Amino acid sequence: MEIASTGFRDARVALVTGGARGIGLGIAAWLLVEGWKVILADVDAPRGQQVAEALGEGAAFVAMDVADDRQVAAGVAATLTRFGRLDALVCNAAIATAHSGPLESLPLAHWQQVIGVNLTGTMLLARHCAPYLRARNGAIVNICSTRAHQSEPDSEAYAASKGGVLSLTHALAISLAPEIRVNAISPGWIDARDPHQRRAEPLSEADHAQHPSGRVGTVEDVAAATSWLLSPNAGFVTGQELIVDGGMTRKMIYR
Ligand SMILES: NC(=O)c1ccc[n+]([C@@H]2O[C@H](COP(=O)([O-])OP(=O)(O)OC[C@H]3O[C@@H](n4cnc5c(N)ncnc54)[C@H](O)[C@@H]3O)[C@@H](O)[C@H]2O)c1
Repeated sequence: MEIASTGFRDARVALVTGGARGIGLGIAAWLLVEGWKVILADVDAPRGQQVAEALGEGAAFVAMDVADDRQVAAGVAATLTRFGRLDALVCNAAIATAHSGPLESLPLAHWQQVIGVNLTGTMLLARHCAPYLRARNGAIVNICSTRAHQSEPDSEAYAASKGGVLSLTHALAISLAPEIRVNAISPGWIDARDPHQRRAEPLSEADHAQHPSGRVGTVEDVAAATSWLLSPNAGFVTGQELIVDGGMTRKMIYR
């Protein structure tokens, strides 16, 4: 277990899983600008180290497979050693590819891996962080998906895992009340690719235009919502799901 970078002990501290790229990185960067200290946890250690160094002194990295109980325990302990407190947990890490092939040929091992990372990992993080969050009247945000509610073909494992995260969110909100608020964000289509990939393969006009919002989502859309749910401004909000999808799940698409 190794934690990179430095930090201070007087700012609010957030642990963001899956922070090495995409939405998790966007959330970490947003919270840092707001003055938080942020621990990025990810199974991709080289990239996580690199990103934490680039983010600067308020950021640190801890290597962690969120599906592994012992690694989660060690990573949370290392977070406390490093920053001395924990105010927020953002469970964002996931096997984020929704499509896993036809049901009849879906490998059981893949199903179990997706459930293990996306759902069990969220529970393990909540369990190990709860004592520290309780001490700070902290908050948890679970990154879910609109695929908890609607599906394309061949996405059983991902959809089931995110449906589980949604139910886990309200269960945790009740179990951990009143000290800890627990909410979920369900993003729709978020272009979470690295900037060079977005430039090399830009989305089409049709991709954007189908959304009531007129555009595909960005990591900043999810980061801003996360920031609000973690803040005292959301102090009367717990057990809820905030859908951040440009209106797509409210649009009838019959042809
Ligand atoms: N991008 C979208 O359109 C979209 C839409 C809805 C929901 N989401 C959800 O948002 C979250 C982030 O998605 P993204 O698009 O940024 O995904 P991504 O694949 O770009 O990033 C996921 C990160 O999680 C890490 N990760 C994977 N397995 C891990 C494990 N076992 N332990 C620790 N870290 C692990 C990866 O290394 C990676 O850095 C996910 O929960 C995803 O399901 C994304």
